[in-house]
Amino acid sequence: MKLNKKVLALLVLGGLSVSGNSMAGTPSALDLANTCAGCHGVDGSSNGPAIPSIAGVSPDYFKDAMMDYKDADGRYSTIMARIAKGYTEEEIGLMAGYFSKQKMVPADQKFDATQAKAGAKLHKKYCEKCHEDGGKSAEDDAGVLAGQWTAYLHYTMDDFTNGRRDMPKKMKKKVQKLQKKDAKGMEKLLNYYGSQK
Ligand code: HEC
Ligand code: HEC
Repeated sequence: MKLNKKVLALLVLGGLSVSGNSMAGTPSALDLANTCAGCHGVDGSSNGPAIPSIAGVSPDYFKDAMMDYKDADGRYSTIMARIAKGYTEEEIGLMAGYFSKQKMVPADQKFDATQAKAGAKLHKKYCEKCHEDGGKSAEDDAGVLAGQWTAYLHYTMDDFTNGRRDMPKKMKKKVQKLQKKDAKGMEKLLNYYGSQK
């Protein structure tokens, strides 16, 4: 009896998701994710330094980024605004689930070891509170910094400091404090993130 119920439930669930999909015309999460592979790499680890890896970020961070790109006054971008417009909120949710489960492959890139060491200290002091575990953690919904392409982090930090991308208030305070204390501090931090494997 118990088993039958379980089988029945599976059949109903399976049937629902199939008919649900065909009714709404929604492709699977994998089909959707594959449309991003040309730039963000298969499974979200990008091959090019100007394109961020998106594997392993939290679903909330992913959804916020995509919804902000869709919004004309939202997050500044060179490319993503046009792309994000092509997807519904439901499709973005499916992709958020998919990419958050992929393991990010740290970028294979050069870094300055001395600067990285100094950057590790600065990270603890100014950034660790919200970018936990040396910037590796996705749990804080603040993106993943460790192993991200340095060039991309450079562009996006410029967007933040130029006001093209909204910087969280508390992060702004820390960044300004850092810049006052150490004009080369950001460079050290980015070398630290670039050094993480
Ligand atoms: C033509 C190349 C290209 C394609 C295709 C592309 N992206 Fe992007 N993506 C970028 C670039 C470049 C950025 C950095 C923002 C910008 O300048 O547009 C970015 C940024 C992002 C970010 C923000 C990452 C972060 O760390 O904040 C997310 C999320 C994202 N893309 C998701 C997607 C998804 C989902 C798809 C597929 C539906 C996709 N992208 C397709 C090039 C691309
Ligand atoms: C009070 C919390 C907080 C602190 C402190 C903080 N951040 Fe952030 N950071 C965030 C949040 C939240 C986001 C996501 C913002 C968004 O998507 O609009 C973010 C996003 C970022 C991004 C963009 C990631 C991406 O993939 O596009 C970078 C780079 C970054 N932070 C660097 C830093 C650095 C470097 C420091 C230390 C100097 C720092 N942050 C301190 C909360 C913080």
